Amino acid sequence: MSEVLNIRPERPDDAAAVRALLDAAFGGDTESQVVERLRADGDFVLSLVAENGEGIAGYVGFPRLVLRLDERNVPVAGLAPVGVSPPLQRRGIGGALIRDGVARLKDRAERLVFVLGDPAYYGRFGFTVMEGFLSPYAGPYFQALLLAPDAPKAGRVSYPRAFDGL
Ligand SMILES: CC(C)(COP(=O)(O)OP(=O)(O)OC[C@H]1O[C@@H](n2cnc3c(N)ncnc32)[C@H](O)[C@@H]1OP(=O)(O)O)[C@@H](O)C(=O)NCCC(=O)NCCS
Repeated sequence: MSEVLNIRPERPDDAAAVRALLDAAFGGDTESQVVERLRADGDFVLSLVAENGEGIAGYVGFPRLVLRLDERNVPVAGLAPVGVSPPLQRRGIGGALIRDGVARLKDRAERLVFVLGDPAYYGRFGFTVMEGFLSPYAGPYFQALLLAPDAPKAGRVSYPRAFDGL
């Protein structure tokens, strides 16, 4: 991509542009509403935007999830949603957002990230199906990425309430 892309944490004044971007990327407002609920509930570990010269071209959110393991609650991260402006898709923006976000999570000593999505896409970032993790979403689309050798490899994953009813 020739254009310069700046990836940075989301700011409060990005909210309207992020909403418009997600509505365009997903063709509806389900994902933007989840993002707004996650923000209101303080349930994001991290959210990033990709800016080009014209504005916000992409967005990725990493909500706080909880892993229940041996009667303990272990905080972990999710990856959802990720969206890129339709005319700018397939130029590496989604991949750049995911790689940058995962690197930032690692720097913050996060150990585990879950995603629900196409393994053909998320496999390239290292996400794999791991049998030990239980979730209502478990199956071929529910994948994990271990960020540290000592990351838990089993447990029951729960999503914050913004995802209720999806
Ligand atoms: C999915 C999405 C975020 C990827 O971002 P992007 O900037 O277009 O993707 P990148 O340029 O980093 O990567 C392009 C590669 O991803 C693949 N790809 C894109 N979307 C894909 C999908 N939904 N499933 C599988 N592969 C996909 C493309 O085939 C391409 O691979 P190839 O060039 O080897 O064929 C973006 O296409 C998008 O916003 N889609 C609509 C919203 C959505 O489905 N989000 C994901 C679910 S949370």
